[in-house]
Order: sequence, then C-alpha cells, then structure tokens
Amino acid sequence: MLGVAFLFPSTFLSSFATEKFAPFSTSWRTAKLHTVLFVPWFRSNSRSLNAPSQHVAVMLHEVLEALEPRPGMVFLDGTLGGGGHTKALAEAVKAEDKGAAGLVIAFDRDPAAIERAEQTLAGLPVVLANANYADAPEIIEELQLPACGEQAAPEEVVPDGAVLDGIILDLGLSSDQIADEQRGFSFHSEGPLDLRFDPTRGEPAWRLINHLRPENLADLIYKYGEERMSRRIARAIESERRKRTLESARDVADVIWKAVPAAVRHGRIHPATRTFQALRIAVNEELKWLEVALQRLPGLLKPGGKIAMISFHSLEDRLVKQAFRDDPRLEVITRSPRRPAEAETEANPRSRSAKLRVARRMVDGGSQS
Ligand SMILES: C[S@@+](CC[C@H](N)C(=O)[O-])C[C@H]1O[C@@H](n2cnc3c(N)ncnc32)[C@H](O)[C@@H]1O
Repeated sequence: MLGVAFLFPSTFLSSFATEKFAPFSTSWRTAKLHTVLFVPWFRSNSRSLNAPSQHVAVMLHEVLEALEPRPGMVFLDGTLGGGGHTKALAEAVKAEDKGAAGLVIAFDRDPAAIERAEQTLAGLPVVLANANYADAPEIIEELQLPACGEQAAPEEVVPDGAVLDGIILDLGLSSDQIADEQRGFSFHSEGPLDLRFDPTRGEPAWRLINHLRPENLADLIYKYGEERMSRRIARAIESERRKRTLESARDVADVIWKAVPAAVRHGRIHPATRTFQALRIAVNEELKWLEVALQRLPGLLKPGGKIAMISFHSLEDRLVKQAFRDDPRLEVITRSPRRPAEAETEANPRSRSAKLRVARRMVDGGSQS
C-alpha cells in the first residue's frame, strides 16, 4: 500500500512494517502508520541505492548493552546512516507472539540514506524521516505515540511528550557518504567538494572556500578542525583560487597536501583531514544542531529511558559530556566514555576515535521537558 501519511516541511516519513504495528497500542493512531509516504523527489544519480550499505555500525554491541532494547519498546535513532543501529534495535523491539509491537523512529538529513533504508529495512518496525534530529520533538509529536507503553511508568509520573525508551545518535558521516564520488567526502574524489549531508539545502563547501576571506577561512579551519596549520592552508587555498575556481575534492586536498611541510604529508592521517572535517562541520552546522538536540531530546525520554551518543572528535565529545553533566533531567551512566574494543578497531579502523557516552532520564526530579 502506498499513500501519503505526513508531509512536514522538508520532511518525509515512511513506514514499512504497516500491519505489524496495529497491536502496538490502542491509543496509537494506527491509521497514520498504515499509510506509507515516500516521495522520491531526491534521487542520488551517483551510485545505486539498491546496493547494501557499506557502513559498519560502530560500537553496536556496547550501544545495545547500554540501551537494553526489548520487545514493545520505542527508540529514536537520530542518525540512520547505513541503518546498522536502527536494524539491530528494530529486531530487538519487534513484537513477540501477541505482545505489543515496538518501533524505531529513524532520522537522517541525507535523502540517500532514507532511500537506501527503504530497501534494507523493509519488514522491520521502522518509521523513517528525512529530517534533522534536532526536529525530533515536533515530528514525534505528529506520530502521536502513546505516552505510556507497556514498560513505562504509570501515566501520571510520565512528563509530557516523554514517549521514548531510548535514543541513539551516532555522529559524523557514514561510509556510504564517503564512497559517493559526487559528494566530495573522500580526498580522492573527482566530484565537487560538497560535504553537505543534505545536498538539497545550504551551500556546498567548494563555494564556501571560494568566497570566504582567507582570515575567516583560517579561523573556520582552526575552530572546527583544530588544525594548527590553518593559516598556511587558508593562504594556499587563497593563492590557488586566484588562478582558478577550486571545485573538486581532489584538487582541494592536493592544494592542502602541497601547503603543509613535507614531514606532515606522510603522517597517520591525510594532511587535509582536519580541514575537510572543519568544512563539513561548517556547511552542516553540525555543532549547532548537536547543541540543540542535547537540550531538546532528553525531554522525549520516559523516566528511566536512556540516551547514547557516539562522537568522533573532541569538539563533539566535549559538548556531549557537558550537556549530560549539566542537565538536571539526566543521570550520567558513563563517567568516562566507553571506547571500542581492540578487535573492533582492527576490523573497522573508522571506529578508532569513537567515544560512547550514555545517560539516563531520572525517575524523580527530571520532569522538566
Ligand atoms: C555515522 S553515520 C550513522 C551510521 C549509523 N549509525 C549506522 O549504523 O549505519 C551518521 C549519519 O548521521 C546523519 N546526520 C548527521 N547530522 C544529522 C542531523 N543533524 N540530523 C539527522 N541526521 C544527521 C548523516 O547524514 C549520516 O548519515
């Protein structure tokens, strides 16, 4: 069955596991979930989205251990990516026999991630939204989930809007985005240095570097990339762009490679790594949305519900650590962040810098939303 369920501004929701949701709860507006919305207004033309995701979910075991998903529970995965965390959570919350069906609400700003998940998560209790995780409160309110599922506390102690048993945000970018030549996430790609998670809005990074004043570009690279050679790199970009418009990811990476001292060129990471990170953070306003989410998302948790955050650099981790510590609604579970096991970092080098922090919504004293 295909039809229109919701249409939020710039937001598309889709649901697969239609009939299976029916027993979820009597207060669930099943009519909404029985319809499917999928408006393929964006189609990546760079690679087949029918191909399985290349992304390997990071710290999956630790996330499941922290969130303890059980049949009937409701989770938000704010960063769907290749769907690894979403899939594992959805399999764990599926209805058992005649029990209540659980649900995973999965968001991604990248329309290609949503499009791929339409295939790979078919049949699981998942609702997909092409949206920013910072907008979760409004979108989840539209879904009209019951405030009190089977595992929740009695209705009178559940704060308004507290409908989730757990939340996961796995920050940064996915391997599918890196693999897409047209997005510019890889240093070797001939495609434009775009770096936007949602390529339909905002400004691509190549435009930014061609119009920013060199001192502002240097500040940006220093602030979001923590790059000590930011001035040297910004000067090199400025001098190159006087000759031509810098557009491809490879060209920009080459300019940076030549700008840094020879000794730095063969280090553990490519010399353009921090600059690309800085530009990506800037064009996606990543830290701004993370801060908004850290203020807003805990209000969606039921008392006892947990929020797990995986970050990949110190700017993100600092924000998560401070927000968890200073939020009167939350009790920090991980005093220091959990790190991936050695076997995982060997098998998946991308996981090397991952830090997982977890907090729980207080049962008492955490009622402000
Ligand atoms: C590291 S990947 C997630 C991988 C995923 N956990 C998995 O197991 O495959 C991060 C994803 O978050 C998305 N993303 C980043 N910021 C976002 C935001 N503010 N709202 C929604 N999605 C976002 C990116 O587009 C990317 O697909």
